[in-house]
Amino acid sequence: MKNKDLLNRSLQAVWHPCTQMKQHEHLPLVPMQSGDGVWLKDADGKRYLDAVSSWWVNIFGHNNPCIKDAIKQQLDTLEHVMLAGFTHEPVVELSEILAELTGLGHAFYASDGASATEIALKMSFHYWRNTDKPEKKQFISLQNSYHGETLGALGVTDVAIFKDTYAALLTQSAQMPSPDFRFSENGESAEDFALRCAQSLEDYVAEHHHELAAFIIEPLVQCAAGMGMYSPVYLKRAREICNQYDVHLIADEIAVGFGRAGTMFACEQAGIRPDFICLSKGITGGYLPLSTVLMTDDVYAAFYDDSTTKAFLHSHSYTGNPLACSAALATLAIFEVDDVVNKNKQTAATINDKMKVLTDLPIKHLRSQGMMFAFDVKTESAAFANTFYQQSLEHGLLVRPIGNTIYFMPPYVINEAEIDFLVQTTKLSIEASL
Ligand SMILES: Cc1ncc(COP(=O)(O)O)c(C=O)c1O
Repeated sequence: MKNKDLLNRSLQAVWHPCTQMKQHEHLPLVPMQSGDGVWLKDADGKRYLDAVSSWWVNIFGHNNPCIKDAIKQQLDTLEHVMLAGFTHEPVVELSEILAELTGLGHAFYASDGASATEIALKMSFHYWRNTDKPEKKQFISLQNSYHGETLGALGVTDVAIFKDTYAALLTQSAQMPSPDFRFSENGESAEDFALRCAQSLEDYVAEHHHELAAFIIEPLVQCAAGMGMYSPVYLKRAREICNQYDVHLIADEIAVGFGRAGTMFACEQAGIRPDFICLSKGITGGYLPLSTVLMTDDVYAAFYDDSTTKAFLHSHSYTGNPLACSAALATLAIFEVDDVVNKNKQTAATINDKMKVLTDLPIKHLRSQGMMFAFDVKTESAAFANTFYQQSLEHGLLVRPIGNTIYFMPPYVINEAEIDFLVQTTKLSIEASL
């Protein structure tokens, strides 16, 4: 099957996500047929370097032998069993390891990031009901935050293009000033700016804490907002403020977790432990859909009761799927065996170094956090993002800009020659798009 046949059939049968389908009249879909390492290959045999890890999930490359073998082995044993009333070894082992890594006691499972957000929000709300504070039912998040696109998650998301159409369906929440250091004043350090934003958070929480259930935040990087990065000091202050005023802190580490922000979990860089952590994306190395929420023992204990209505009556059919859990166990084993978090420091240093050539171009805010790299292109052209995207694809590179922000979130296995290709092709594609 060649590219053209497959893309025509796809347009007839598939409604693609996050897409105005009419745009495919002039922007062709790319039918992918196989993958290996950082590379994807289309149906005509052309290769593309996957610089966004297939929507930030594929941390150890395509066709990864360890993860593939683990799934195959599990496939011969138990493909699925419902998790209500039943359990199995992969889910138990995974929960034990995640508890050790996060310092949080129990893991509640789902399949996608947005479902993890829903679970954390519902659980926080329900916690306050169970502990006789039912008036604590409001949520706060950051300006420009992104927590997923189901209705509850969209309620705490602050990206107009995803949210405004559905405003009438959404639960209201309040947005706190974002500590993204691109918004700082001239001469103000990232830390000072973060502390100034934390002061606004404190002012709001001090006034509204009696009605607040939780503050949900993307630790260190607001990814969908265009890789807005901020100082860990904000997280530290947020933890203190939430402690002081008895408000839950939900860390949405769906995008930044599993080494992406430079440590296993981003909260580690602020030395804090959230009340809830939401995990997904890299958890299975990009092989199977899996998400989880871990919470403190205090939260767990508030649901442990003779009363059924005090229980968390929430479920998804594929919760804790054994195949997905076995992929996650293999992913976590790679972290351990290959000392991934430390190795990534070297890879990140190489990428940062090679990206210096991009400063010859009209760009600003060249920034990085762990294995996330971004900069903003100074251009007035409204068509820039589309033109750049098409140019880079033409040259065998998959990068999806967010407005004028170009970012790389490559699989951790990217090598030096591939980094050269990534940077040089980006440079070339920007030059052709200005
Ligand atoms: C921080 C954050 N939270 C939640 C989500 C939603 O995850 P999913 O797309 O798997 O529903 C995303 C997705 O990009 C994300 O970046």
